[in-house]
Amino acid sequence: MEKLILVIVEAAVELVPEEIRGHPSVRAEARRRGKRVDEILLDRSYHHAAMKDLPENWKRGRPDITHFTLLEALGSPLNRLGLLETYVQLRDGHVIWINPETRLPRVYERFKGLIEKLYMEPVVKVDEKILLKMERKALKNLIDELRPDLKILLSEDGEEVGWKELGELIISHQKPMIMVGGFPRGDFSPETKKHADKIVRIWPTPLEAWTVTSRILCIIEQNLNIQQGNSDRRRP
Ligand SMILES: C[S@@+](CC[C@H](N)C(=O)[O-])C[C@H]1O[C@@H](n2cnc3c(N)ncnc32)[C@H](O)[C@@H]1O
Repeated sequence: MEKLILVIVEAAVELVPEEIRGHPSVRAEARRRGKRVDEILLDRSYHHAAMKDLPENWKRGRPDITHFTLLEALGSPLNRLGLLETYVQLRDGHVIWINPETRLPRVYERFKGLIEKLYMEPVVKVDEKILLKMERKALKNLIDELRPDLKILLSEDGEEVGWKELGELIISHQKPMIMVGGFPRGDFSPETKKHADKIVRIWPTPLEAWTVTSRILCIIEQNLNIQQGNSDRRRP
């Protein structure tokens, strides 16, 4: 395996949609944060009442899932060794690329602020180095661009596969792609499922996206024999 591509798909990250920008809960949060209502992310912990009539509301308004999952992925030994490339595909038609060297804010409110800034200026740079980039892009276009040689969708409804067998399959490919759902409830869209070569489950019951991510990365690290005393590959 040359590099693993991780995509958090259908991530529940979007700006507050127009139809609920006038709701008191949205206006109150915007006021508290000194922002306009069209500049803030939809967040169920603040906008629960406003979200009740939104289509597919059970899959929306959870940027914390992406935040936790990214912290898991970027902090993993696999990423530290330069063997991971991470993307977030948002349900609103954007894709965010995260430089593997990016140190994301640990505090959730600051993470939200960073993503809100991306909607206004799609590139975040520090010392001329791009740390995050947001583009309008469908999952299909991302796949066409990256050309992974294996696409695995992780889902609790997938085929049951043993961890060792799954790890061996993944590392036997040059540029495998793993897709994890970045939403709290419900199923993937048919569009997402259509791109998967294989849909697999790694545990008999549903797990959180960040737990699944940390497990799959760990399975791959073990299969690559990445461990203490054997980690002097690529980036420190
Ligand atoms: C919280 S789940 C999404 C919603 C899920 N239908 C539920 O109700 O729990 C987040 C993501 O973690 C992954 N996932 C959760 N449980 C899994 C399992 N048992 N095996 C493989 N992937 C799983 C899937 O990618 C899923 O989209």
